[in-house]
Amino acid sequence: MTNTIIPRKTPINPQIVDKILQENKIEDLSLSSIREIKKLVDDLEKATNEKFVRMEMGIPGLPASRIGIEAEIKALNNGVASIYPDIYGIQPLKIETSRFVKLFLDLDVSPESCFPTTGSTMGSFAAFLILARFHKKKNTILLINPGFPVHYQQLKILDIKTESFDVYEFRGEKLKAKLESYFEKGNIAGVLYSNPNNPSWICFTDNELKIIGELCTKYDVIPIEDLAYFAMDFRKDLSKPGQPPFQATVAKYTDHYILTISSSKAFSYAGQRIAMLVLSDKLYSRRYENLKDYYLTDYFGHALVYGNLYAISAGITHSTQYALTEMFKAVNDGTYNFVEQVKEYGAKAKIMKELFLKNGFKIVYDKDEDEPIADGFYFTISYPGMNSGELLKELLYYGISAISLRITESERIEGIRSCVSLVRREQFKDLEERLSKFKEDHPI
Ligand SMILES: Cc1ncc(COP(=O)(O)O)c(C=O)c1O
Repeated sequence: MTNTIIPRKTPINPQIVDKILQENKIEDLSLSSIREIKKLVDDLEKATNEKFVRMEMGIPGLPASRIGIEAEIKALNNGVASIYPDIYGIQPLKIETSRFVKLFLDLDVSPESCFPTTGSTMGSFAAFLILARFHKKKNTILLINPGFPVHYQQLKILDIKTESFDVYEFRGEKLKAKLESYFEKGNIAGVLYSNPNNPSWICFTDNELKIIGELCTKYDVIPIEDLAYFAMDFRKDLSKPGQPPFQATVAKYTDHYILTISSSKAFSYAGQRIAMLVLSDKLYSRRYENLKDYYLTDYFGHALVYGNLYAISAGITHSTQYALTEMFKAVNDGTYNFVEQVKEYGAKAKIMKELFLKNGFKIVYDKDEDEPIADGFYFTISYPGMNSGELLKELLYYGISAISLRITESERIEGIRSCVSLVRREQFKDLEERLSKFKEDHPI
């Protein structure tokens, strides 16, 4: 007697999924990078002629700000393309950044301490480089995980020592003892986290930022606060210039800090690669003897600009600096509400989370202290009885793609990250049907 294997009936032909997985040489999806999964799903869509609900990549799903585009065209027509921009950035951009920081973070930072970078990706790279060198004993970066995978790659290729922990079990007051256990060893130069956090969308509370800031002061550790999703904690209206509430920041609680402020998501300007690296004025002018081993100066800010920023890219694309100047100017003057433009991410996340929850999924990182997390660019999910690799693979059969939390250094091995930006509202019906079939086929 021969055994007949009845092929599974899933929204996407399982044999094609298996074949394309093999062709892409993917054995365990929990280890695949975002770009590998993107390529895999591109191939799957081509082979099946089906549209996937694509949640793997954090591309802004909205059009770029017109204000930026117009300013860039004007600057190009005025001839900036042929001229090297100053390494420390064009003066109008520095002025508008300083205003932005005052109006939306309620911080006093002078224009001299604000520098353009090619995306905040370059800002963190430059910051890591100097933080690994400014102090003889402090040579390690502490990462509060989960996080943005590119940061790990940067630290790896720079051969900078790291320590890290998953914040899941250490929210609220528990953060204090955990952080202190690292800081008190004396080897931590800087501590990095994103807020709101990619991938989990947790937002540190003021209480937690106070803990981080005060411990940074106590142990002379420099926080690098990555504000790639500036003002996107939509539980509060952070859109009004000069009016509280402001974007929460560690800078309220310590005098030495580095902030990275990206245009990629706030202004949907990712393609033009521009962000600002903002130092506190005190850090900018602080002197560290050890810097002389690597730079011509022992002034932190000077070494960062003329040592690192110069060596990395010798200036930031001239026209994009004009774009960011005008975008900041418009929000500072209150003529453009950038938060209103990106609120759509939160609205979509709310609906999508409900669909997942209704069908047996759980939110992994679900709370900020005792408050449910905000709806925003990302959320994290799991399904009972599956690890992230199994879940990602199963979801492919149902036309849904995401990434594993493993590559974000999360310890929640069951979790995957969903990014809402590329999912169109017209796809919600598909998503609902596919999830409902998934639940039916995977009884809990
Ligand atoms: C936490 C975080 N930091 C930095 C970046 C990169 O920002 P940029 O485009 O400004 O380099 C991203 C992009 O997804 C991110 O999620």
